Amino acid sequence: MEENQSKNIILTGDRPTGRLHLGHYAGSLRRRVELQNSGRFDEVYIMIADAQALTDNSDNPEKVRSNVAEVALDYLACGLNPDIATIFIQSQVSELTELAFYYMNLVTVARLQRNPTVKAEIQARNFEASIPVGFFTYPISQTADITAFDATIVPVGEDQLPMLEQAREIVRSFNSTYGETLVEPKELLPDNSACGRLPGTDGKAKMSKSLGNCIYLADSADEIKSKIMNMYTDPNHLRVEDEGNTKDNPVFIYLDAFSTDEHFKKYLPDYQNLAALKAHYERGGLGDVKVKRFLNSVIQETLEPIRKKRAEWEGRLDDVYEILQRGCIKARAAAAKTTKRVKKAMKIDYFGE
Ligand code: TRP
Repeated sequence: MEENQSKNIILTGDRPTGRLHLGHYAGSLRRRVELQNSGRFDEVYIMIADAQALTDNSDNPEKVRSNVAEVALDYLACGLNPDIATIFIQSQVSELTELAFYYMNLVTVARLQRNPTVKAEIQARNFEASIPVGFFTYPISQTADITAFDATIVPVGEDQLPMLEQAREIVRSFNSTYGETLVEPKELLPDNSACGRLPGTDGKAKMSKSLGNCIYLADSADEIKSKIMNMYTDPNHLRVEDEGNTKDNPVFIYLDAFSTDEHFKKYLPDYQNLAALKAHYERGGLGDVKVKRFLNSVIQETLEPIRKKRAEWEGRLDDVYEILQRGCIKARAAAAKTTKRVKKAMKIDYFGE
């Protein structure tokens, strides 16, 4: 077996269809930076999935193109370090398309139709009978992304679990047909469940650009404050003395994801921790405005350094593109190695080295 197959390798990524928001940060970005800095990984690949973004934005190439830079800025602002992590653009690694083409032979249409994430996304986009083939097959392309780098760990949100299941099936099928060639990946989910399901500021299940319910990493301090002070809370908590619900209340879910005991000491010393704050809200006597002000302090403290760093990188866009270009070259070399191995296993290597 190849030298890579005993290494710890991370691959993950995002579609560049908009700036990244607090949901991305809680659900994956923050974790990626920790993993990057943990020293436990031999390689960390972070991919801007522009080719995948085009599977449902084929008529809007400018949107995808401009968001590649936005996502790269968000990455660098959050602390992804190009000296450790290889940040690259999917479309520039053509081996990924090549691998996907071969993997297509190992997956049935019926199996793709059963993929719950694909099902839900088809519904959300009203595709039904008019699904682009490229979109329909994106779980296969995603398997190519993962296996091209021999990734062992894929840090993702819960919605991506069916993708990982599909990837493992393809790997097993490939290895049993053509001999041990590909590495089976494992997902890594957020450890705090609130992080995996950050709702929109309007209480809807997810932050989504089209719903206008996102707090962006690039938002100004004023924008953040006004979004938080206007957040949806418990609709039955009308008067301060009313008993309140903290469970389906986005303000408390955000606090679950972001607040620490230190924050309480600093901004709300009347309460020792989040459990105490929740207890008061639940028994009545605690107003929304007070909780929102505290949440605002917590989020401002979290996002201020990110916003500053983002602004610095924005002034150095040439350097950002250079980082991406270097990343693409490195990623391509790695993917080319795997592709060679794959073609050999499939007996489509005709001319030796
Ligand atoms: N589907 C992911 C998203 O929408 C992006 C992605 C593409 C990805 N290829 C991947 C994530 C491979 C993990 C592994 O955010």
